[in-house]
Amino acid sequence: GDVERVDALIAKMTLEEKAGQMTCLADSFRPFNPPNPQVGIQDEKRLAQEIRRGRVGCLFNGIGVAGGRRAQEIAVKDSRLGIPLLFAGDVIHGLKTIFPVPLAEASSFDPALCERTARAQAIEATAAGLHLTFAPMVDVARDQRWGRVVEGAGEDVTLTGILSAARIRGYQGRDLRRDDALLACPKHFAAYGAVAAGLEYGNVDISEETLRETHLPPFGKAFAAGALTTMAAFNEINGVPATADSELLTDILRGEMQFRGFVFSDYTADEELVAHGFAEDDRDAARLAVLAGVDMSMQSGLYIRYLPDLVKSGAVPMGTIDVAVRRILYVKAAIGLFDNPYRSLNEEAEKTRIFTPAHRALSREAATRSVVLLKNEGVLPIDPARGQAIALIGPFAQDTANLYGPWAFYGDPDKGVDIATGLRAALPDPTKLTVTRGSDISGPIDGGIAEAVAAAKAADIVLLAIGESQAMSGEAQSRTVIEIPPAQQALADAVAATGKPVVILLRHGRALALHDGVANAQAILATWFLGSEAGHAIADILLGKVDPSGKLPVSFPWESGQEPFYYDRKSTGRPVLGNGSSEYKARYATTDNSARFPFGHGLTYTDFVLDQLKLSDSALRWDAAIEVTARITNKGNRKGSEVVQLYTRDRVASRTRPIRELKRMARVTLGPGESKTVRFSLSRVDLEFVGARSQRIAEPGAFDLWVGQSSVGGLKGEFTLYAAEPAKG
Ligand code: IFM
Repeated sequence: GDVERVDALIAKMTLEEKAGQMTCLADSFRPFNPPNPQVGIQDEKRLAQEIRRGRVGCLFNGIGVAGGRRAQEIAVKDSRLGIPLLFAGDVIHGLKTIFPVPLAEASSFDPALCERTARAQAIEATAAGLHLTFAPMVDVARDQRWGRVVEGAGEDVTLTGILSAARIRGYQGRDLRRDDALLACPKHFAAYGAVAAGLEYGNVDISEETLRETHLPPFGKAFAAGALTTMAAFNEINGVPATADSELLTDILRGEMQFRGFVFSDYTADEELVAHGFAEDDRDAARLAVLAGVDMSMQSGLYIRYLPDLVKSGAVPMGTIDVAVRRILYVKAAIGLFDNPYRSLNEEAEKTRIFTPAHRALSREAATRSVVLLKNEGVLPIDPARGQAIALIGPFAQDTANLYGPWAFYGDPDKGVDIATGLRAALPDPTKLTVTRGSDISGPIDGGIAEAVAAAKAADIVLLAIGESQAMSGEAQSRTVIEIPPAQQALADAVAATGKPVVILLRHGRALALHDGVANAQAILATWFLGSEAGHAIADILLGKVDPSGKLPVSFPWESGQEPFYYDRKSTGRPVLGNGSSEYKARYATTDNSARFPFGHGLTYTDFVLDQLKLSDSALRWDAAIEVTARITNKGNRKGSEVVQLYTRDRVASRTRPIRELKRMARVTLGPGESKTVRFSLSRVDLEFVGARSQRIAEPGAFDLWVGQSSVGGLKGEFTLYAAEPAKG
């Protein structure tokens, strides 16, 4: 069995070979154009030499079967013990077929969709020779200034947990030994989404309760879904960098969460312990990271350089090294690498399983499901039969360079469908469409505006494609102001002044604060970065071929300065309740601390109405459940889908509770005039929170409950949780 095989290997390994298995280096056997200039710096000859000597266990961020096979042959045939390499890469939302960015897809609120797209990504990634993806990002993003919001499922802990687990099931498939199973690496452990002021790589200073209540639970769901690896976060938490935090990586991760796989460092994060002011030098950094529980060092080379000597000098016990190597080799065994080192290195699969029509069709479906209709004053959908003249304006109107979003560097931008191309293909008379750039993405306000205004005046309706470039979100792309860049805002204001109806097509990787000509447009669609089929999907929605059904996974504030901003906030002693003066209340001088578009919000082309909220009992007994039902009716005249959401509030608790928390969601598709009763069951476990001494507890007492179409409003009910019956006898 695997256990004996791994133990036998460990017994034969030298200290250097052990440190080698714990080392992960950028893959120069399979060059590609990397976003990070440091990836690929190893030259092939040197790397071959390292593999031969057993000084590397994992290569990352290269793709391609030929190069993978060359590297694997060296490991298997030329190294002393023939231990196969693990091939990893960042396949975050697609390899060649690019799917919507994870934040966009989270708008579907649909785990089944996330599982299907992850499966397709895995089929492509493994056909290109990968065994593992550094995904999903399960960080709960609390501040929209942080660029990596785009890579996760948004601001909510429950939604993030559910969608992340689905993605992991999709990546890994049912049988890890299959050649199309892709190991997942939920990241970044932990609390990276809580960096102060949204500053990338910044520090995190949070309470133990917030860490455990908001940032750890999605990892629990991810491990329960079968993830066998994770990655330590770049950030420090309360003064200790995650990469050197043994309480986090050992006591919590292994002890409490029962994680059985192995931990990657992030890119050179062990070396960065020096800059953090936590390690004296590189050697000390390697010591701290390995003792804390980092099993695999990414790209710094610190482990291979220092671990042998650290062990010899007694600074690191051999047992620590053996445990780490065992974890890594088990994962290699779990995917069948020892039996078939050339799994996922199949030239035929590489030719036939990538960028297939089926994957593109799925990408289009996912893209339509990711669009959120934020606002619509009767202008959408556009009925092509009316023959309206359409002006498509903006820097994203006809542009394939910004369709995919960050972390799609294996994708070929020229193969993406931009908005103009998608619309031309969908309109019965493409001559009704004029396309004008109007302005640059950022930079000075230029002369393009005059031409855009002329195009708007000549049209019946304007589609304005504006927002963020793909370089403005993702890693290392924090923004201080989350607004439309000035040049595009000027364009929007000028177009609005023509008085023509305007539909805003937002391109973005985060929630934005919208103003003036953008906020006041007749319709606004959140279209994020939708991937390969973006233009077709946007046309499907605009022309009503598909109804919008997305819901916001992040709150849109009124102003940037509200960040960090999320719907599950706490009350204060002086909340603004909207029933009287707001003087001396918890608000900003210029705005209430509410959302322009709240979490969970998203309109459809039809009209859904909820009524008949019923609770099976107003008393929830300690070990029982209550059933909550409500009727949803499609009162409009088109078919559509709605996501019904259930929120609760614990009115009084020993630690104050958020004003609302999402507990359940259900997607319903109904034809005109149809109704359906949605059912949810709630039990005590759903009401637990992290109380004193970090224990999860539920407290008896009164709860509010809402069944609604977003995190604001909805049908309101209440119930009481009763304490446990005293034990008999
Ligand atoms: O997976 C990523 C991580 O999210 C950020 N730093 C680099 C890693 C590997 O590319």
